Amino acid sequence: MNTHDCHLIQFEKKSHETGNLVFMESKKDIPFDIKRAYYIYDVPSYAKRGSHAHKNLKQVLIALSGSLEIIVDNGYAKKKYLLDNPHQGLYLGSNLWRDLVSFSPGAICLVFAAEYYDPSDYIRNYTEFLNFIRSQNDYSVLKS
Ligand code: TYD
Repeated sequence: MNTHDCHLIQFEKKSHETGNLVFMESKKDIPFDIKRAYYIYDVPSYAKRGSHAHKNLKQVLIALSGSLEIIVDNGYAKKKYLLDNPHQGLYLGSNLWRDLVSFSPGAICLVFAAEYYDPSDYIRNYTEFLNFIRSQNDYSVLKS
């Protein structure tokens, strides 16, 4: 398997001389019911966040302010995404290792999540992630 269950989402933007407004709705612009939101900010430019995968969780990340890069790894190949405007989001499906890097000064990354916080859904060890991915794919080959 060599596909990445992730893609950029363009949100509608209402522009006016008095400023911009961006909106998003569950199960429409965000492809799941939002159960949780959190945001990451004051990240030093040398810091790396994330460095984990989720077994089930789906998320959408938005750079509300500033910019950051997200390196997405499906266990076979990596893709790099730049989030640098607040009317764009990155959908991340499950089973993807993500590193969040190169935060600009003042960057704020908003995250919408499809589930409540569950530490048991995290894979924080990269070797464990690779083993998990391969076991999932072996299973799907066996089923097909
Ligand atoms: P973590 O997911 O490791 O952050 P990041 O991926 O940005 O590096 O979470 C950092 C800490 O915050 C960790 O102790 C778990 C806690 N946390 C919650 O309690 N609830 C949440 O919804 C999230 C996302 C994290």
